[in-house]
Amino acid sequence: MSSSSPGGQTSGDRTPVPAGALPLEAILCTEKLRNRKPRQPDYAKENSAIVALARALADSPGTILQVLADTLLAVCQAESAGISLLTRDDGGKRFYWPAISGVWKPHIGGGTPRDFGPCGDVLDRNTPLLFTHVERRYTYFQPVEPPVEEALLVPFYVRGKAVGTIWAVAHSDARRFDAEDERLMRSLGTFASSAYQILESRDAIAESQEHLSRALAEANAATAKFRAVFEQTTVFAGVMTADGIILDANRLCLEVCGYRAEDVLGRPFWECGWWQSCPESQAKIRAATPLVAQGNSYREVLAYRWADGSERMVDFALDPIRDQNGQIIFLHPTGADVTDLMNAQEKNRQFAETLEEQVRVRTEEVEQQSMQLRELSRRLLKTQDDERRRLARELHDSAGQDLAAIQMNLDALLRDAVALSPEEQERISNSITVVAHCNSEIRTMSYLLHPPLLDELGLRSALSWYLEGFSERSGIKVDLQMPEDLPRMEENTETAIFRVVQQSLVNIHRHSGSHVARVSIECDAKRINLEICDEGKGMSPETLAGISSGACVVGVGMSGMRERVRGLGGEFEVRSSNEGTTILISLPVTTAS
Ligand SMILES: Nc1ncnc2c1ncn2[C@@H]1O[C@H](COP(=O)(O)OP(=O)(O)OP(=O)(O)O)[C@@H](O)[C@H]1O
Ligand SMILES: [Mg+2]
Repeated sequence: MSSSSPGGQTSGDRTPVPAGALPLEAILCTEKLRNRKPRQPDYAKENSAIVALARALADSPGTILQVLADTLLAVCQAESAGISLLTRDDGGKRFYWPAISGVWKPHIGGGTPRDFGPCGDVLDRNTPLLFTHVERRYTYFQPVEPPVEEALLVPFYVRGKAVGTIWAVAHSDARRFDAEDERLMRSLGTFASSAYQILESRDAIAESQEHLSRALAEANAATAKFRAVFEQTTVFAGVMTADGIILDANRLCLEVCGYRAEDVLGRPFWECGWWQSCPESQAKIRAATPLVAQGNSYREVLAYRWADGSERMVDFALDPIRDQNGQIIFLHPTGADVTDLMNAQEKNRQFAETLEEQVRVRTEEVEQQSMQLRELSRRLLKTQDDERRRLARELHDSAGQDLAAIQMNLDALLRDAVALSPEEQERISNSITVVAHCNSEIRTMSYLLHPPLLDELGLRSALSWYLEGFSERSGIKVDLQMPEDLPRMEENTETAIFRVVQQSLVNIHRHSGSHVARVSIECDAKRINLEICDEGKGMSPETLAGISSGACVVGVGMSGMRERVRGLGGEFEVRSSNEGTTILISLPVTTAS
């Protein structure tokens, strides 16, 4: 006997009826079941078979179909018996044989086409059928040994739908099926139905178990991934309930800080070791927790402690975690230790503070030095002025008076010159001229050192006198504009203005190359403004920058002027281009008392 199925080569197409195949009615003999005298029912045997089946169903549902086939064989006293089920994977195009007992047992796994075979006929007619010599119509049975003498097939149903058949076969005329066999087969058909359903559920359970274990494996992989991130992240991370109970804390929170999981898990977050002895942080977190549970976020730099007692600083954040529906399911505390950063910042701050203090002290020193320097130069200028005034007076009062006396003596000598020769008279006359010239020079020198007009008649007269002499000596035409009624001012102010004009004109003569100059003075009740300008070549940008910044070291004229003006609380400015130079000063007016 071959182990291949009689109709195993079936396809989905409708099976053609082979030539010479008998019609179905020719192989059906169902009415014989009624005609034959039924054998006596053996209820005891039937009962014990059903009990055995029920036990098999409970104990090992995987073998139930084979037990059913064996039972069929036994109770129907058949030579072969088995179960045919409609295939499910192709939508029921064929029958396959999951269990066979008796001589056809090697055909387990074989089957027949749905639309051309005894099982299909039974389902089509929806009733038990008795066949004889099936190979006469279904020729694919012809090679199957031993051939079918009689075959009794009964359909069975699941949820009202026929899904298969159970069958018993007699291979010789020694065994004839009757109504009692049909009754037994129908009764066992309900078992076939239960067994089928159990197997169906088992398949479904196995399938969902497979799904479940696949989903579980995926979930486990995802959890492992997130766990790895959670554990290996470089920030403190935890999970807590909306009430603040710690559910999880990563390695950094525990190992690095010196705490154990059992010290913190299940406890209110703020009561854990991190916040012990940091009552302010503790209170803040306790107050923030209900707010975060309502959907807010909290972030602050807080003090916390390691288990060894050292106080640290953490940039702490507490945020709500929501599910897909937006419901808050957990709170998520995170943090980064910023102790080192803050220490470095503090060091920087202290360093900057020290530096600032040093700069402040140094600035004060420099300011003091420059004040001292200004005071020194003010005194120097004052001494210089006083000295000039003294020298001028000396020259005028001493040398001037002596020369005047010599001149008077020489005049007297010349008047009484009868005893003198003409040469002697000529010499005396020459001496008188020399003495007069000398006297005039000394007076000019004395006046230039300190014009007496400045003290006696004031700035206006002194400047007029000086400019006249300057023009004569230098050949530079100077235009003087000054109010007629320029009031007398304090001696220092008048001297300063006179000296600035004097210095500026000397500079114009020495450096500008200009043939003209203008001196203009304006005055109101509060200030006097002086402007001295020329039309010369101007000064180089470097010199101008040096003078403006006070760093000019070329000469002392400019710095002397500036110091004089500043010493009196005034302003000093120099403008220069290739069209000329202008000195501008402005002084507060203090009229002389
Ligand atoms: N009117 C001007 N025209 C062009 N250059 C000028 C004029 N006044 C001053 N300078 C430039 O400014 C420089 C500084 O003048 P400052 O009076 O300070 O010094 P000085 O005249 O060179 O020397 P000192 O006045 O000490 O005898 C001069 O050397 C000159 O280069
Ligand atoms: Mg000068």
